Amino acid sequence: MTINKPVVAMMMAMDRNRLIGSEGQMPWHIPGELAYFKSVTMGKPIIMGRKTFESIGKPLPGRTNVVVTRNLDWSAEGVLRAHTLEQALSLAAEADQASPEPELMIIGGAALCADAMPQTQRLYLTTIDHAFDGDTWLDSFHWEDWRVVTEDVRDPATTGGLAVTYWVLEKA
Ligand SMILES: NC(=O)c1ccc[n+]([C@@H]2O[C@H](COP(=O)([O-])OP(=O)(O)OC[C@H]3O[C@@H](n4cnc5c(N)ncnc54)[C@H](OP(=O)(O)O)[C@@H]3O)[C@@H](O)[C@H]2O)c1
Repeated sequence: MTINKPVVAMMMAMDRNRLIGSEGQMPWHIPGELAYFKSVTMGKPIIMGRKTFESIGKPLPGRTNVVVTRNLDWSAEGVLRAHTLEQALSLAAEADQASPEPELMIIGGAALCADAMPQTQRLYLTTIDHAFDGDTWLDSFHWEDWRVVTEDVRDPATTGGLAVTYWVLEKA
């Protein structure tokens, strides 16, 4: 059996200042964004930082959930725990061996993305052209590192009046 090498992908949403979080939560609620997140990640292993997991509060169904923490005592039901990014990627790859085009999805937050950005090959990025208030930024993202594969400008009538674009980017 041939085992295809998985693609390391990331899925994040940010505002025009690269803001991604506020007091442990998402700074916005955009109609359709959760459905889009679900459509891209369903069936794939997802890897998240411990704070992001705690903000979601439960494992996301239909996906192997891998949570990264340095705390050796931390555990939660229904998730795999990893203590390093490398360990998380190998647990996720083991979980996705059946897929012909395996994709390991890093889903935040900013701390985990900063570690994972150098080895991320594909980025599903949602941009919201608005300045929200918050405290967590995707500082590790730089447009010049990426080339655009697809750009899907959403109709503001479907996004609560906000200028939302769904990008698929690959490392330049
Ligand atoms: N807009 C979006 O697309 C999006 C997506 C996800 C999250 N968010 C938001 O982002 C915020 C959370 O982000 P954050 O940066 O504060 O936290 P985070 O990245 O979710 O979690 C940070 C924690 O994860 C663990 N960790 C991270 N990298 C690690 C590594 N390489 N090795 C071992 N452990 C590692 C550590 O856990 P321990 O402290 O337990 O050791 C660290 O304190 C929230 O507001 C959330 O809502 C937004």
